[in-house]
This record gives sequence, structure tokens and C-alpha cells, in this order.
Amino acid sequence: MTVPVLHVCVTCRAGEALAEDAPTPGRLLHDAVAAHPQAGRVDLREVMCLASCDHGCAAAIHMPGKWRYLLGRLAAPLAGDLLEYAARYAEHPTGTVLPSKRPASLSRMILGRMPS
Ligand code: FES
Repeated sequence: MTVPVLHVCVTCRAGEALAEDAPTPGRLLHDAVAAHPQAGRVDLREVMCLASCDHGCAAAIHMPGKWRYLLGRLAAPLAGDLLEYAARYAEHPTGTVLPSKRPASLSRMILGRMPS
């Protein structure tokens, strides 16, 4: 089964001052998605900076023939909700998942979309 590619920015600091060896919030989000029982809903990949550094942790999702979305305002505790959203994204012919159709915690996460 084809699943969406989910790039998670592992360098996002989400506005936090971190110790030099502390994991970034972006790394924590990536690892929370990777460890989630529903992780198979996405093809998870790492990326370094999606140019959305002022919007919390960031990610991007795409599948052939669907809109590509830039996502923000994310955090590790939202990993399960993000995977639920990815499943809805995969089901929709164009990848459009209205706020009413996704977890309430992700109602403001869309930062932008691009044609595929
Ligand atoms: S460091 Fe994550 S978007 Fe820039």
C-alpha cells in the first residue's frame, strides 16, 4: 500500500533555548512518530529546516497527484494525531483534509500548500 511521505524537520527548536546536547523538539517529534504503533501510515523521513522556524515544529506531507502541505505548530505529543491526519490525507483524492475532519489539536497546523 502506498503511504504519504512525511518529512519531519529534526532541527526545529520551537523557540526553546536548549542545552547543546539536548534533543530538539523537532527530533522528539520525529522520534515520537517513528515509535508510534501507527508509524506505518507514513514513509517517515528527516529533513533539516523547512524555512518555517517561527511556527513550532514543522513537517511536510505529500503523495503523487495530491496537494503537498507544509505543516507547523506541531510537537511530540501530537504524533498520534499527526498520523491520524496522514491516514485521512492518504484517503482523500486530492489530500484535502478539512479542519473538521482532522484531530482538533491540528486545526491550525496548515501553513501552506503547493501543487504536486
Ligand atoms: S529548523 Fe525546522 S523549520 Fe527551520
